[in-house]
Amino acid sequence: MATNFDVRLETLTGRAAQAFASTRLDDSANIVSGARTFYLETFGCQMNDHDSEKVAGVLLRRGYRQVETPAEAQLVLYNTCSIREKAAQKVFARLGDMKIMQGTGKWIGVLGCLAQQEGEEFFERTPWVNLVCGSASYRKLPALLAELEAGNSRVAGLDTDTDETFETELTRRDNPVRAYITIIEGCDKSCSYCVVPFTRGPERSRASAAVLEEVRQLADSGFTEIQFLGQTVNSYRDSSPRRMSFAELLVAAAGVAGIRRVRFTTSHPRDFGRDIVEAIEATPQLCDHVHLPVQSGSTRVLSAMRRTYSRYEYLDKVALLKSARRPISMTTDIIVGFPGETESDFDETLTLMDAVQFDGAFTFSFSPRPNTDAQHLPDAVSEEEKAIRLAVLMQRQREIQQKRNDALVGETFEVLADGASRREGQWAGRTSSNRVVNFTSAAPVALGEYLQVRITKAGPNSLVGERAI
Ligand code: 5AD
Ligand code: SF4
Repeated sequence: MATNFDVRLETLTGRAAQAFASTRLDDSANIVSGARTFYLETFGCQMNDHDSEKVAGVLLRRGYRQVETPAEAQLVLYNTCSIREKAAQKVFARLGDMKIMQGTGKWIGVLGCLAQQEGEEFFERTPWVNLVCGSASYRKLPALLAELEAGNSRVAGLDTDTDETFETELTRRDNPVRAYITIIEGCDKSCSYCVVPFTRGPERSRASAAVLEEVRQLADSGFTEIQFLGQTVNSYRDSSPRRMSFAELLVAAAGVAGIRRVRFTTSHPRDFGRDIVEAIEATPQLCDHVHLPVQSGSTRVLSAMRRTYSRYEYLDKVALLKSARRPISMTTDIIVGFPGETESDFDETLTLMDAVQFDGAFTFSFSPRPNTDAQHLPDAVSEEEKAIRLAVLMQRQREIQQKRNDALVGETFEVLADGASRREGQWAGRTSSNRVVNFTSAAPVALGEYLQVRITKAGPNSLVGERAI
């Protein structure tokens, strides 16, 4: 992942700046003549983004220095995604571009989900690849790197039958205001369309004490917002005898001195209970936002997807969230065109969206994936029909978001400033509900600062405002 520490430092203030300064010192301390260099590009989800931060940490610890282009690098790494066909194609295109580097002495490595899915096939299909390592094997990365450095030109880490999680001594943080913490890796849910259980292996939760220690370290280095990550984050099962529940872990993290915002994603509806809503209600530091993928509004399709809940059970979870003492914003993921999805199934998705009024939705067209049961299901929906359904869904959701955001005009929210906006003289930040706010301020704004912003205008995807005080 290309990062420019200097640019970021200019806009950082206070303790967060010190944290980055020390990372940067670590980094520049490794700039010795002849030191190895790496380039790292990340595709896909936040889990991958955060894995890349840890991979960068492992490399920095080994004396590598990060560079901005593959041309400058001794080691070129792609941390890949294979959730949909398009994501996989993008990676193959990138690897195709690297063919000209063959014979130049560079090492090319493929990490992440596509690495796990295709395995040693990469050595056949793209023989200029030297390293293939799936996310469940990242603990082996130092050993794999040592093999490369020793002259072995084809090394692979592809086990998924592991109970290990990926812990590092150093994690190089790319986001200056939000720190990610993986609390559970892998997935045991086996949704019929999804590659994740194959690419990331079985669920492994970290011990609560290790998670909370990381929260404390992040707070000490100046972070005020943390986000717990997991493919099914709320399926967390403390792997230590302390046996903290997910909700208890959230509350404990929120209680760490210096932490002002705790987020978590992605939640699975099956494991989403009242205790999580009660924790949010009782703990101001727990952000009022839940990402709860529904995937479809039709019980018939949900059952074919093996989502383990019906439309009505999902709506019960929504009712739980809507009954909370403070408003909790809800976002979701939806797939259209699952095999066998009829017009009437699709209508049920639309009526569910009307009923729930999501604040945001990631919408996807079904993509058949290797190893999954859904790829063999009959009654495929045509690409044309999928495109129509996707467009209808997105338009409906856009209208819902516009209406919901319009209702916020005139209100004032606490916003965490996280960057300059695209417009000159404007800043960007997020509310606790995870809405993006572009705002103006007469006084200077520091990255990582919390300020009150009055909303003056609303679009479907973001709000506009002015600093209130
Ligand atoms: N086709 C389309 N969308 C998919 N997703 C996962 N697998 C597929 C697939 N095969 C979507 C789901 C999931 C999100 C991360 O990606 O909505 O929640
Ligand atoms: Fe994939 Fe389902 Fe696991 Fe989510 S819960 S990662 S969609 S198998």
